Amino acid sequence: MVSIIKSDSISKTKQDIKNMYFIKISKIFREIFIKYLNSLNYTFDVLVEGCFIVYNKKPKNPLIQQIYKINVLNTKQKITTIFIINFILKEVKKQINKKIPFKLRCNIFGERTFNVNILNSKSRDLDIKIGRKLNALGFKIDLNNFKYIFVINIFKRKILISKLTSKIYYRNYFFELNTNDKNINYFQINRSQLKLRQALIYFNVDLTQVKTSLDLGASPGGFSKELSNHNINIIAIDPANLDKRLNNNKNIKHLKMKVNEFKTNKKFDLIVNDMNMHPIESANTMINLSKFLKNNKLAIMTIKCPSMNVFKYIKQSKQILKKQYEKFEIQHLPNNRKEITIKMIKK
Ligand SMILES: C[S@@+](CC[C@H](N)C(=O)[O-])C[C@H]1O[C@@H](n2cnc3c(N)ncnc32)[C@H](O)[C@@H]1O
Repeated sequence: MVSIIKSDSISKTKQDIKNMYFIKISKIFREIFIKYLNSLNYTFDVLVEGCFIVYNKKPKNPLIQQIYKINVLNTKQKITTIFIINFILKEVKKQINKKIPFKLRCNIFGERTFNVNILNSKSRDLDIKIGRKLNALGFKIDLNNFKYIFVINIFKRKILISKLTSKIYYRNYFFELNTNDKNINYFQINRSQLKLRQALIYFNVDLTQVKTSLDLGASPGGFSKELSNHNINIIAIDPANLDKRLNNNKNIKHLKMKVNEFKTNKKFDLIVNDMNMHPIESANTMINLSKFLKNNKLAIMTIKCPSMNVFKYIKQSKQILKKQYEKFEIQHLPNNRKEITIKMIKK
């Protein structure tokens, strides 16, 4: 069901709209994503902070970090706290049965016209406030075992309500998974470590058969640390030092050199590459070093984009990588900056 309430800023008529999608990308790629949508004739609204509403057709693009259907869209000149609460209560009550466990997640984007003092600037306050009211009315809020989650994205003039299954929710908010895993020693070296963790979750990588890995451009050691959490033996190559906290890590062997100096007669189960290098040079390095990767094994590489033209660098890199690799999956992950992550398999 698609419904648009009080449409004062949307030119399209309700009959024209079959589906509406909420999309979130990194703010830094906003302009290039707009160009992409225009080039394919998508109908869309640009919101703030890398958020978009796209109408009718569902885009597919590696920059998209979140995409899901919008069930209800309300547009209004001025949104107040009371209005938000009453609107969400009314719409959620309409869309859920009292027997079905669900939870709410409110995200507030951009400038707020409602009273931030009441809300204490946190969207969590809203979730809790509305959740309690629904509970008191006999609805079944369950934060852990929910069948649906209502994701409510609130902007200065718009409220978007999406009713997601837990599967679709985690496909979009995958980066929230796995951070509370008690079995893993999760001290974190840097942001790069999160990039690799997110890549492993997003690309659904099973590391159980991976015993050895090469880490290219390893310093200060975030990727190596992440892999060592999975009991993998890593050769970490970088002319720069690793973080001192990794000195006693028996899984990591640091070779203080550039990758082109590296020689071995071994073959590895995995290669990861996060080198600061032009994408073409980095892709060529992956070709030169592919002799050290076993066939049918995985490689993960970050394409560092020298400019915003990310699609050009993806194309150029793939063109080179295709000689030795296949089954590419490409995604801009939440902890990627001006870079994009590629997963591929050695032919
Ligand atoms: C963004 S950092 C890598 C961060 C690392 N993945 C982590 O998780 O901590 C990029 C690294 O690439 C290294 N690098 C650049 N060119 C290299 C080369 N030719 N050989 C080896 N390392 C290189 C740099 O020294 C730098 O430490």
